[in-house]
Amino acid sequence: MLYSMIKPLLFKLDPEKAHHLIIKLSELHQPKSYQHSSATTVKIKSLTAPSPIGLAAGLDKNAQALHMWASLGFGMMEAGTVTLKEQLGNPLPRIWRYPQVLSLRNAMGFPNVGGEQVALHLRNYQGDSLLGVNIGKNKDTTTADSIKELGALIQLLHQADYFTINVSSPNTPGLRALQEVEYLDELFSHLRSITNKPLFLKIAPDLSLKKIEELATLASDKHLEGIVATNTTIIESLGMGGVSGALLKEKAHTVQAALLAMNTDLTIIGVGGIANFGDVLNFWKLGGAVVQIYTALIYQGPGIVHNINQEILKFLQLSQLKDLGDFFTLPLPERKEVIKDYEKRTH
Ligand code: FNR
Repeated sequence: MLYSMIKPLLFKLDPEKAHHLIIKLSELHQPKSYQHSSATTVKIKSLTAPSPIGLAAGLDKNAQALHMWASLGFGMMEAGTVTLKEQLGNPLPRIWRYPQVLSLRNAMGFPNVGGEQVALHLRNYQGDSLLGVNIGKNKDTTTADSIKELGALIQLLHQADYFTINVSSPNTPGLRALQEVEYLDELFSHLRSITNKPLFLKIAPDLSLKKIEELATLASDKHLEGIVATNTTIIESLGMGGVSGALLKEKAHTVQAALLAMNTDLTIIGVGGIANFGDVLNFWKLGGAVVQIYTALIYQGPGIVHNINQEILKFLQLSQLKDLGDFFTLPLPERKEVIKDYEKRTH
């Protein structure tokens, strides 16, 4: 209701100005904490989150508004991308809206206040939503030096519950080349030697199936927790940068399906065009559990998180399941049956 009133004003502003305004407003008051039902709790191997709906990286690059995101009902939040040294990112404008197709394009280039400052912000967060930090290399850091740099970031940001390594942004020159197996092999060995925290790799949706399988095999061999699939996609006809939202959805879904069909021990976090509970169910049908949202939050407003949490409760109730734990322990064919029944009854 409130968002539908302020959205036209926000959409009159440059997207990045609108974004900074919301972050600034969030600092003015301490929001009430969200009352999660215990039924929506998910366990992701060693991690527990009060809801499977997560905030995608990029919305809170500096971890400035963590209490606000948690108050909206997110069970997980991924701050960042954070780099070791502060950097300004690419010249403005660097976010473009495509409201007719519910999509965004961005070419931010990791603007952020740097690891030390973000570490201070992380210390201020107390809450039960899971807190991840997405980390990347500074623009001017060489591939060889980036291994030490990412290790140093992990040590600095040790308050995080998990880390996501971002080698898939289209907006740092040469960054996607870091999706090479030889490099990642060395990187994961180094990071595993300095932390026991869960590590995720965030990948691009524009990779070949062979490449996706290679990366997943490596991630599993190196005892990563999982893969965040996916980052934004390159659509050259629209211009530079990466596209998110509805225009990304199908590509992201294909990558998620490929990863989940591999049946590894990896946790796959689904992100890309998720805009309602139906999209969440489509991801669950593949065998996934936890999703993240960015673009749909911009178009629909913060109520989207509460709405999906409520729909999960309705789904559990109609399916006569006590909680999500009961649902996710069912074998996948049975989970699919439960979803099919639910869809029949609600359509
Ligand atoms: C992003 N995304 C992103 N991802 C990341 O790993 N680090 C980042 O800093 C950013 N920054 C960023 C800025 C903007 C303006 C957008 C729109 C997106 C990508 C984001 O986390 C997510 O992977 C994609 O946006 C796909 O999800 P949605 O937006 O389709 O729900």
